[in-house]
Amino acid sequence: MTEIPKKNLLTGAYRLYKEGYQFIGHTCEELRTDIFQIRLFGQTAICLRGEEAAKMFYDVNKMQRKGAVPSTVQQTLTGKDAIHTTDGQVHALRKSMFLSLMTDENISRLSGLFNQALHRRFAHWQLEPSIRLFDEMARALCAAVCGWAGVTCPPDEEQRRAADFIAMVDAFSSVGLRNWRGRFARTRAERWLTKIIKDGRKNADPGTALSCIATYREPSGEPLSDRLAAIELINILRPTIAIAWYIVFAVTALHESPDWRLKFIADRDDDQSHFIDEVRRFYPLAPFMGARAKVNFDWQGYRMPKGALVLLDLYGTNHDPRLWPLPYRFDPNRFHDRRIRPFDFLAQGGGDAATGHRCPGEKITVALMHTALKFLTGEVRYSLPEQDLKTDLSRMPTTPESGVILTNIRKSF
Ligand code: HEM
Repeated sequence: MTEIPKKNLLTGAYRLYKEGYQFIGHTCEELRTDIFQIRLFGQTAICLRGEEAAKMFYDVNKMQRKGAVPSTVQQTLTGKDAIHTTDGQVHALRKSMFLSLMTDENISRLSGLFNQALHRRFAHWQLEPSIRLFDEMARALCAAVCGWAGVTCPPDEEQRRAADFIAMVDAFSSVGLRNWRGRFARTRAERWLTKIIKDGRKNADPGTALSCIATYREPSGEPLSDRLAAIELINILRPTIAIAWYIVFAVTALHESPDWRLKFIADRDDDQSHFIDEVRRFYPLAPFMGARAKVNFDWQGYRMPKGALVLLDLYGTNHDPRLWPLPYRFDPNRFHDRRIRPFDFLAQGGGDAATGHRCPGEKITVALMHTALKFLTGEVRYSLPEQDLKTDLSRMPTTPESGVILTNIRKSF
């Protein structure tokens, strides 16, 4: 058995802080390996990247989520005892509840609501000298997904509710003020939605996410507690609002590759889908995922001890040059003659969403990106003045520095 390569055992957290999204990928390249161990926050973490590593990471016979999601991530991003931390039967049944909402009909209803919300916001944009696109997308997504899920969110609350959902995502890898902002945002959102769940148990509209979660029963036959039901409802609202990250990245990419704007206007489905997939591959959002070895096992000649913390590099696998030639070039055409495999494109996790932890919201993500891009390329015109569009890869999560400022927004001919 070969010993797992070690790197700077004492400086893991520092390197993670300095290198952010590129930390695991850089270290793998330095050590010429897909696996290394490092000391992170008082424990040893085995870091992995690549397609073969993803196959192992998503094997439920080998890996589990119990004990893998740090409490700081649960207190900001996912919520305590959320689906992300479950395994086995409890996970399978809760996952089928999430997936039951992802029908084509439901997704097209959500896209329609998002389109309406964009038109409503556009009426305001025309009167403003400039808008910050990231904030506006978060607000429109918040209005749409709350309406879709059966959650009442009056227009004068949309902005601050959206800001709370964004703060939860913004906090996941931070310490200090950003982290506290995320915790307070979660406390407020859980309090708000716990009340909505309590009311929803009596009178939610059938077929909505609110009704689905309020009436859901665990394998034990028990309903979710009011608080856990609120947490799972947040696990639909928050990531939908987080699509704002991908939309601003997409607008940045259109600005940097204007030919693609013309392809969007030509409205060819294939081109649009390839562009959207390349945005999800190329730009940074989810950095890596953690799980723990469920049993002792061997992988490619290395011993994985039961209980070991394993981190799979999602961003690094999406930029692995063996899978994605010239990975740091934004090139939607790479998808023309290439099928996405279950473990090589990890923007929203890998494997099968029905049986594993892969994100159940990929179809919603793609559909809402389509809606936003059709609106922004077809229905409105804008100027994108000189500004700092660089993304800082050491910050997790990151956006273009300016948040993407648009001016002179008007109706297209
Ligand atoms: C899980 C990313 C949108 C709901 C995940 C995971 C990632 C991810 C990386 C973890 C996969 C794993 O554990 O291995 C994203 C990104 C999104 C997005 C980048 C777009 C901005 C959505 C949407 C929804 C959603 C729109 C629902 C409407 C969930 C849920 C889980 C999850 C419930 C937990 C799944 C499980 O543990 O089985 N997502 N997601 N996500 N996502 Fe998403």
